[in-house]
Amino acid sequence: MVDFGENTAQGEFWNSKPGQAWVRFDEAMNERLSNVTEHLMKAVEPLSFNSVLDLGCGTGALSARLTQDYGPSLRLLGSDISQIMLERAQEKNKENHNVTFRQGDAQIDDFGGERFDLVISRFGSMFFDDPIKAFSNIRQAMSKGGTLVFACWAPYKENEFFYLPRDFLREYGDETSKPEARAAGPFAFCDKEYLNEILSASGYKNIKIDEVKTTLATSDTPEQNANLLMKVGFGARVIRDLNLDEAQISQIKEQYMAHAIERQKDGMISYDALIYLVTAKA
Ligand SMILES: C[S@@+](CC[C@H](N)C(=O)[O-])C[C@H]1O[C@@H](n2cnc3c(N)ncnc32)[C@H](O)[C@@H]1O
Repeated sequence: MVDFGENTAQGEFWNSKPGQAWVRFDEAMNERLSNVTEHLMKAVEPLSFNSVLDLGCGTGALSARLTQDYGPSLRLLGSDISQIMLERAQEKNKENHNVTFRQGDAQIDDFGGERFDLVISRFGSMFFDDPIKAFSNIRQAMSKGGTLVFACWAPYKENEFFYLPRDFLREYGDETSKPEARAAGPFAFCDKEYLNEILSASGYKNIKIDEVKTTLATSDTPEQNANLLMKVGFGARVIRDLNLDEAQISQIKEQYMAHAIERQKDGMISYDALIYLVTAKA
């Protein structure tokens, strides 16, 4: 049994229904996050690296993309706390013999004693009970002068994918506050000053935090989009917590669909997003 230590709550979360939902909607989420992938790929273009750690790699889309672009000489380890998501990552990367996956809590794992020139993450670095301990631990696994590159969410109110579905949930008794900054979760690092403090205190240098406006877009039908919103993201978490009956659930789905129909343009449903693209040296 893998030790989730201080991140037991995250371990339980990602190894249960939310992890299963990410597997079920794997391709659909990757389509929505593809602009973010492109920003990360562009950020690593000028760097030279032979070994990569994909931190909180989830279902392994970024790992697959890196090996596709950088070829079989690249050694890559995908690390994640969720066994369910790693199984999907493994399946997706089974032809890539230079890629291995490892379950662990990145806050305490030793990543098999390996050293990495590049640590990269697409939204997999915000779920630590003790971020300074986690980022210090990750830095220990980096080569001297290695680079950390990751994408995380800027404030909630700038990210339609998260807050628009919530607008419909108020009438069902959603009084949950918006996700907290500085607490493990998608918006843990939405305060740039705090993020900078965490990385400095963890021993990183040349910290750069760029704001990037982007979109989460999909060619899904409004119904497919509604199905995803019912299961993935902060709204889905609220729906789970509200313990709604079948009628209420289908009513919310109808509302999501109607809303998506209104927004759909040229076959695409698109959500404005603001992310931070972070780079730092070990
Ligand atoms: C929002 S998902 C992103 C997954 C993937 N990077 C992607 O872009 O599709 C967050 C990921 O972080 C992983 N995670 C959460 N807490 C973790 C921890 N303490 N150590 C390692 N991985 C963690 C989750 O299991 C999940 O796969």
